[in-house]
Amino acid sequence: MTTSPSETTSSPAETEHAGQRLGERLQSGDVVLLTGELGAGKTTFVRGVARGTGSDAAVASPTFQLVRLYPGRVQLAHVDLYRVENSSELRDLGLEELAGQGAVVVEWGERLEVDGAAHLEIEHLGADRRLIRTIRDLSH
Ligand SMILES: Nc1ncnc2c1ncn2[C@@H]1O[C@H](COP(=O)(O)OP(=O)(O)OP(=O)(O)O)[C@@H](O)[C@H]1O
Ligand SMILES: [Mg+2]
Repeated sequence: MTTSPSETTSSPAETEHAGQRLGERLQSGDVVLLTGELGAGKTTFVRGVARGTGSDAAVASPTFQLVRLYPGRVQLAHVDLYRVENSSELRDLGLEELAGQGAVVVEWGERLEVDGAAHLEIEHLGADRRLIRTIRDLSH
């Protein structure tokens, strides 16, 4: 396993690049939970993840759409739970089905419990600096 447990980035491009390296490792069935405060850089990171899965889709925050799908080497389902208010909405998400079709990356992932999921936390260190911590890596 080559992922470092944590790294500090100094620009959005560096965070995207960290995401890209994770995306290159993703396989169908992987679920990655992202945590971090508002504006921490979760969507920026996902932009890189999508590129790493071979997608050239324009990645934006799926604020009014719970899930956006990016076709690539593996399909990437981009989930944002910010506006999800109750557990029935979480059940309706169909996470297992999404993970059956490809990889899944979830913003505000602390709202889910998924066996075997990877967990990364992005922390705002001030100005353009961010700490990306691997709490739990991919299992492969
Ligand atoms: N090192 C960095 N890494 C990531 N983003 C950075 C960095 N430095 C500055 N930024 C800026 O911080 C903002 C991060 O926004 P982004 O939408 O990625 O965060 P988010 O965690 O998804 O927010 P939200 O909680 O609203 O979903 C962007 O405007 C980005 O350009
Ligand atoms: Mg976001």
